[in-house]
Amino acid sequence: MNFGCPETSLQQMHDLLQVVDTALKEISSRQYAGGELYVDALQKVLGNRKRRGPDSIFIVFEIPGKDAVKGRVFFMNGDGFVEHSGSITMLESSAYAINLINGDIELSNWCDSCESIAHYQGKFHPAVKKVLARPISNFVSKKISGEPRGAIIAFNYPDEATTYDADVLNSLSVVIGSVVTLSTEMHETESAFNYTIEALARSCEAADEETGNHIVRVNRYSELLAKAIGMGGQFVRAIASSAQMHDVGKVHIPSFIIRKEGSLTDEEMTIMKQHPHFGAKIIGDAPRLSMAREIALSHHENWDGSGYPGAVKREDIPLSGRIVKVADIYDALRSKRSYKPALSHEQVLAIFRSGDDRVCPTEHFDPALLRAFFKIEHKMAGIYADLG
Ligand SMILES: [Fe+2]
Ligand SMILES: [Fe+2]
Repeated sequence: MNFGCPETSLQQMHDLLQVVDTALKEISSRQYAGGELYVDALQKVLGNRKRRGPDSIFIVFEIPGKDAVKGRVFFMNGDGFVEHSGSITMLESSAYAINLINGDIELSNWCDSCESIAHYQGKFHPAVKKVLARPISNFVSKKISGEPRGAIIAFNYPDEATTYDADVLNSLSVVIGSVVTLSTEMHETESAFNYTIEALARSCEAADEETGNHIVRVNRYSELLAKAIGMGGQFVRAIASSAQMHDVGKVHIPSFIIRKEGSLTDEEMTIMKQHPHFGAKIIGDAPRLSMAREIALSHHENWDGSGYPGAVKREDIPLSGRIVKVADIYDALRSKRSYKPALSHEQVLAIFRSGDDRVCPTEHFDPALLRAFFKIEHKMAGIYADLG
């Protein structure tokens, strides 16, 4: 028996941890299909030359839909791991597939059950033999639980397949299965979270005059502006879903003030200026909503400190708030309001260049964002055209 030596098992454990570590780092930004992680792990962990020979072959089976079991085939090529151009499809009801899917873990060497390797080939499905094209001398197979169900099989270990090899395949499938389950659950929670904050933003918007797609467009403009100034993926994703919460606090402002035609009295303006605080209070202190909270609180601050509610200046205004301010004002100018008609993109460009009686671009906007705006203004117009 060729048991794994301590050096090999340590190396394999290290390789497996590396696959898991990489997967976990990316888990919040992508959802793993089971197959791709199993392939990564097989390549890294079982591609180790000490336990693989030139005839080593791996198959990852999945049951993606009804009835069919589909297999992707990989073989060793020098130090590398190459996917075979052919794949395997067989019926889930075939005896071979039933054994695979129900058998949990199986370890088999030809000499334990047959008189010859040639005789041993009779154990395998014709579709498997056809794609492998090499005699099979041993294998370890492991059922994959979870979604999608399936199995992984490693064929043709050097000399014999051992209990050590079975343990490695078993650990691999348990660990990768957990990552896939975690990824699926995280993305379900993420969808529920996104649905909830959109529902909150929409329900508060109903109290406002800004109906329709205003909040969706502000999300999109903010995302574009954040990308245009070179912000990283995490910031861009956060602002693309947090910007829509900027005015949730308006739900506490009497509707006669929100819908008033013409300018507000000083007293009405004082009430209106409380909506950033109300918004921050509604959003609360959850770390996951910290950007939404800072946007709600800071989207009416001005670069020169003349805004509200904190009269904060320049970089003391959170970047997210400075971005949403540009996005929100662009959209407000493009849209019809009780106190003004809708303006064309060109009219808004003129205001962003030279200002008007309400907007003073150089005093109100972060200059870097104003420059970014002029670089991508055609894309902003495109969003309004698509979602207006
Ligand atoms: Fe606001
Ligand atoms: Fe708004």
